[in-house]
This record gives sequence, C-alpha cells and structure tokens, in this order.
Amino acid sequence: NGKPPSLPYLKGKKVLVSAGPTREIIDPVRFLSNRSSGKTGFAVAQAAQAQGAEVTLVTGPTELPTPPGVRRIDVTSAQDMLDAIAPLYDDVDLVIKTAAVADYTPDETFPHKVKKSDGDLSIHMVRTVDILGELGRRKDKQILVGFAAETENLAQYAEKKIQEKNLDMIVANNVNEKGIGFASDDNQITIFRRDHESIEYEKQSKEDLAHHLLEEIRPFFEGDGE
Ligand code: CTP
Ligand code: CA
Repeated sequence: NGKPPSLPYLKGKKVLVSAGPTREIIDPVRFLSNRSSGKTGFAVAQAAQAQGAEVTLVTGPTELPTPPGVRRIDVTSAQDMLDAIAPLYDDVDLVIKTAAVADYTPDETFPHKVKKSDGDLSIHMVRTVDILGELGRRKDKQILVGFAAETENLAQYAEKKIQEKNLDMIVANNVNEKGIGFASDDNQITIFRRDHESIEYEKQSKEDLAHHLLEEIRPFFEGDGE
C-alpha cells in the first residue's frame, strides 16, 4: 500500500503480552516451574511499545527489568495469570502469549513445609486452565498470537495449536538445539499463520526476533491481514 514499513502501526492500540514461567506451589518453600527466562516476552513487550501500543505485560517470576513505558503485572501461578488476563481481554486489540504456563498444578498446596518420611512421596497433579485456549473461545476483534516450544514435530504441533486455540499466528521454537530457546539470549523460530506459508528465521537475538514478529503482525492492522 505504499506506506514505508517503518511507521509505528499500534498507536492507540492495546496490547497484552504474557511472559515468563509460572510457579505452581507445593508448600511454603517448594514449587514446580520451568526454564523460561521471560526474555522473549519482555523483548516482545518492548517491540510492541516501540510500535506505539499501550502495552500490559503479565509476567511470571523473572529477574528482568520492566521495559520503559510498559505496564507490568506480576503473577505466580497459571491460575493467577488467568485471573490477571481475563478482565483485560475484552479491551485489547492484540494478545501475544509467550508465557510458559504450567500444564499441571498440585491438587493441594500444603500450608506448612512438608516433612520427609521413610516412604516415597507422590504429588497428585491436576490440569490448569488453558489460558490461550480460553481466549480463543472468547475471541471477538482480538488478534491472538501463541508461542510453542517443541522438541519434535514442530510444524505439525504448531498447526494443531493454531486450530485448537483459534489463533491467528503461532511462533514455534525448536528447543532441541544447544544454546537456543529457554533461558538463552538467542532463539530460532518459525512463524505459522492460518492459510499461509510458514516463515523460518535464522538463529538470532530475542530482540531482533521480537522486531520481526511485530513486522509479521503489522498486516493484521493495516488491512490486508486475512
Ligand atoms: N498456554 C496457555 N495456558 C496453558 C498452557 C499453554 O495459555 N495452560 C499457551 C502458552 O502461553 C502458549 C501456547 O498456549 O502461547 C502454547 O503452549 P504450549 O505449552 O506449547 O502448548 P500446550 O497447549 O500446553 O500443549 P503441550 O504442552 O502439550 O505441547
Ligand atoms: Ca504446555
């Protein structure tokens, strides 16, 4: 459409980014979590802010500083993340869900530190709510972008998640190779869209990938997205 691609395209738009791991609490001193650092989500929040958006970053526990100009909401568990996101959803234009949300949570949280005994310990785990799946079911005007970390069958699982969660786009990363993916500074991603060819990117910094992702999302807001 002749517009220079460098113009910020999210002015006046509300963007929700979720980042980091969740922590599922076992007792006051123990939890179950994963290796997500939050770096991708924080880079994506910053890139959306640079496109002029009003950005809310809902994040699990990380060591990262809040990107300037971004509103940050800290959460712990998958349930907390859902509770933080749900009331904001109707009002947002774009959701980018980078968070590594726990799929299971202990069915009870012990009020005191669990003492060891001679026998083994089993912890019964129950399913958490699929937050993104829930947003997909409630989708109205929102553009929904999911993330998926896979160690095998990348394309097949990515396409399945697009359908099942009613997404517009999914960013898949291969966490098999050393030095990319969880907790590293670099990432190697493939972007999948409904009815589009997938786009595979070279391994590069999470900041550069966040920038590319925001450029891939641009057409949804400039009229030729579907
Ligand atoms: N997701 C979510 N709520 C959950 C689990 C996942 O919102 N309880 C979101 C993640 O934030 C991500 C997308 O769903 O954007 C895909 O997460 P992923 O773990 O790859 O997929 P799952 O559907 O959980 O399937 P599986 O872990 O079995 O691959
Ligand atoms: Ca999962």
